[in-house]
Amino acid sequence: MARITAGVTTSHVPAIGAAVDLGKTGEPYWKPVFAGYEASKRWMAENLPDVIILVYNDHASAFSLDIVPTFAIGCAESFAPADEGWGPRPVPVVQGHPELAAHIAQSVIQQDFDLTIINKMDVDHGLTVPLSLLFGQPRAWPVKVIPLAVNVVLYPPPSGRRCYELGKAIRNAVGSFEPDLKVQVWGTGGMSHQLQGPRAGLINQAWDNHFLDRLIDDPEGLSRVPHIEYVREAGSEGIELVMWLIMRGALQPKVKLIHRFYHVPASNTAVGHLVLENPA
Ligand code: DHB
Ligand code: FE
Repeated sequence: MARITAGVTTSHVPAIGAAVDLGKTGEPYWKPVFAGYEASKRWMAENLPDVIILVYNDHASAFSLDIVPTFAIGCAESFAPADEGWGPRPVPVVQGHPELAAHIAQSVIQQDFDLTIINKMDVDHGLTVPLSLLFGQPRAWPVKVIPLAVNVVLYPPPSGRRCYELGKAIRNAVGSFEPDLKVQVWGTGGMSHQLQGPRAGLINQAWDNHFLDRLIDDPEGLSRVPHIEYVREAGSEGIELVMWLIMRGALQPKVKLIHRFYHVPASNTAVGHLVLENPA
């Protein structure tokens, strides 16, 4: 049977993607950011899954304001990097896993979650920057990826509670897929940042670190934090952090912490990163 082996969380700052693409990772500003991912890259090379369910948000690249699904699952064979205004990133096309994606769609929808089924979609920095951080610059991504897009751009976002419960439904779905696959779930976006308005530039290190503590050890309690607290404490784009609860709901209640990293700033954002393993 398929099984979820581990979870990864990471910020998805677009300037990190540009630093990779333009060969700037060794510059003084970026060096400490990329250094924080070195141990995880080594762990990843030794614990490569077959498939990643990559929870991320689209930034008006695939979805315009005409149609904004709350939760959408990518069921296509492949997903091209989106053109976000400067041409598509020079990264490999993402290969999907249509069989597992269709199974998750069936299982999760019949566990009473509404997922929008996406059969054609380009993927933006929300999905490609996390892949660059963990895999560097390969000619082809070494794993298949099922994109799971969450609306945190147009009000109202889903609650942390609903995201956590969706993660549990994904755990059930993966566990009932017959082929023997190793699956990771990634939660991306965050940590605290606000790109707009009078509070632009907001970073809240204390709140972020408390969020990391609770995501590891008290996800049930953390899932009850209302959306308004994310916006107030972590900024308007800090709401991206609800996506990390989908990853956490997909893991077992008790997990092993493999790696934890926090760094301020990268562009306008506090960078946070965790690697969590399920018990064997
Ligand atoms: C930045 C961060 C984001 O999450 C994003 O989607 C766009 C920009 C930033 O820090 O600049
Ligand atoms: Fe973002």
